[in-house]
Amino acid sequence: MNQSALSILRLLNDGQYWSGESLEKKLFCKRAKILNSLKDIDSYGIKIVNTRGLGFRWINPISYLNKNLILGYNSIDLRNFNITLFDTLDSTNTFLLDNLKNGVVDNRCIPVVATEYQTNGRGRAGRLWYSGFGDSLTFSFGWRFDKGVSALSGISLIIGIAIIRVLRTFSITCASIKWPNDILVGNKKLAGILIELRGEICGPSYAVIGVGFNYKLSDNIKSIINQKTTDFLSISDVYFDRNQILSALLTEFQNILPVFVNHGFAYFKKEWISYHAFERHQVSLILPNDSVIVGTVDGVKEDGSICLMTSSGRKSYHVGDISIRLNSL
Ligand code: BTN
Repeated sequence: MNQSALSILRLLNDGQYWSGESLEKKLFCKRAKILNSLKDIDSYGIKIVNTRGLGFRWINPISYLNKNLILGYNSIDLRNFNITLFDTLDSTNTFLLDNLKNGVVDNRCIPVVATEYQTNGRGRAGRLWYSGFGDSLTFSFGWRFDKGVSALSGISLIIGIAIIRVLRTFSITCASIKWPNDILVGNKKLAGILIELRGEICGPSYAVIGVGFNYKLSDNIKSIINQKTTDFLSISDVYFDRNQILSALLTEFQNILPVFVNHGFAYFKKEWISYHAFERHQVSLILPNDSVIVGTVDGVKEDGSICLMTSSGRKSYHVGDISIRLNSL
């Protein structure tokens, strides 16, 4: 999205009509440039009307991310988070990976990057992650570990637990996890997690933890996502602001990660299994070489791998580029 469109959106976000003249004055640019800047705005899930005699109006304005609100909601300790917000970015994970060349130094200053829009949002297994402008929470944060990356198996399941816990505080009790960490409601995806680990085998190491959380997807965006999706506002009876949800998520991540560091995934295994959408269900695992393993889900191991009862016994499979599908009965 071009800079001029971003500036127009900031003005139109009040939901009022803005005449072409008033926009021209405010932005020091000609009408033709305004029209040109807005020409493909629908593709971002943004609906702007241009009504004769009244002007431009954004009919589905967003509640922009706001650092003070994020930090204010849960009275998060300001010292612990270093939040940077963008209107647009290629990918918050990529940004953090590129900017943390020396890793995450100290968990008392957690780098958090969130953006209203990603031009190249990345999902697991090399997939793309789509969302529209301001219709989701797309953010990443870095976390430092003294241990090496091999000790961190299980972390991707931990982040799923944190999200489920937060949803429960917003009275969403029907959310579940699809191994390893897709957050589902009614078999539709609400949120996804991408964790990228860096560092030394023996430590220290750090994780860039990216979360894409659907908040209010437009039909336009839904139509380009090739899986069943849902969003927060469709499943919540009560309106909660995106800043409040982000604040709650950061707070829970900050609570859960030190416990994971001290006790490992074993401490959370039972809780995780209680959230698993496919526990005791017949599934197919599709391995990176395209072979398919059929079995009944029988929990997870302490390293986060999934266990299946198969025709040749109980087997476990590690988090990797494996996808899991529910077999219809
Ligand atoms: C998945 O389910 O495939 C994981 C999706 C993760 C998407 C988030 S959005 C914020 C962060 N930045 C990215 O590029 N990806 C993650």
